[in-house]
Amino acid sequence: MRTPIIGGNWKMNTDRASAATLAEGVLGAAALHPGPEVVVFPPFPYLLPVHEVLRRPIIGGRTVHLGAQDVYHAEKGAFTGEVSPLMLRDCGCTWALVGHSERRHVIGEGDDNVNMKLRSAIAAGLSVILCIGETLHQRETGDTNHINERQTRLGLREVSPEQLTRIVIAYEPVWAIGTGKTATPNDAQEAHFHIRRVVADMFGQDAAGRIRIQYGGSMNAANAAALLSMPDIDGGLIGGASLKAEDFGAIIAAAAARR
Ligand code: PGA
Repeated sequence: MRTPIIGGNWKMNTDRASAATLAEGVLGAAALHPGPEVVVFPPFPYLLPVHEVLRRPIIGGRTVHLGAQDVYHAEKGAFTGEVSPLMLRDCGCTWALVGHSERRHVIGEGDDNVNMKLRSAIAAGLSVILCIGETLHQRETGDTNHINERQTRLGLREVSPEQLTRIVIAYEPVWAIGTGKTATPNDAQEAHFHIRRVVADMFGQDAAGRIRIQYGGSMNAANAAALLSMPDIDGGLIGGASLKAEDFGAIIAAAAARR
């Protein structure tokens, strides 16, 4: 049985005070609904203050994990503006996102870059969420499975089976992110099923059965339960609805109920 994983991607939102308050709310929600693994991804400047909040013990000893929205592929050096995986660990992060659609399509990152980031984060001891997903045009031209396969294969290139145990895949159709349009549970399930088949082809059936594949793209308190009820959907990566502790808490509750 795969433990559901719920991530809150705060993107370029919150300020120092509201980030700490939101983290407190998430900690409370996670304590109320044990079971799912919960990770929040604040903006870089708020990692430390959020870490201070998340360090507080909660009932049952459960924790909310801290993650970074992006990471650079080198350990240190002359890379102005970048943040290394070691710095992230030093600030309390145990997770990092790589390949988020806004990094791919707004900032212009390609699969090679995403793969370098993933491998360097994993080598530094972080766990990684690899984000993949098709654009609206690619869906309309019937390329969904092809794109997901390519981004999965290139994203996981030169990853060892042992390293794969610290990787989660987030299937996030680009047209569903921040638009209020959600993939239907059946469409999402079909994509997840296909992605799992690709992982099976690369790493074998056992590894494919263990890897967690989250759905992302306008997941909210109202649609989470239906999406999470699908057999290959192992959690959610949530943007907009992760900015309100109550909504994010309802999604954690839906994941806990599924379990
Ligand atoms: P959204 O964002 O929930 O606002 O659609 C999801 C994501 O970008 O991870």
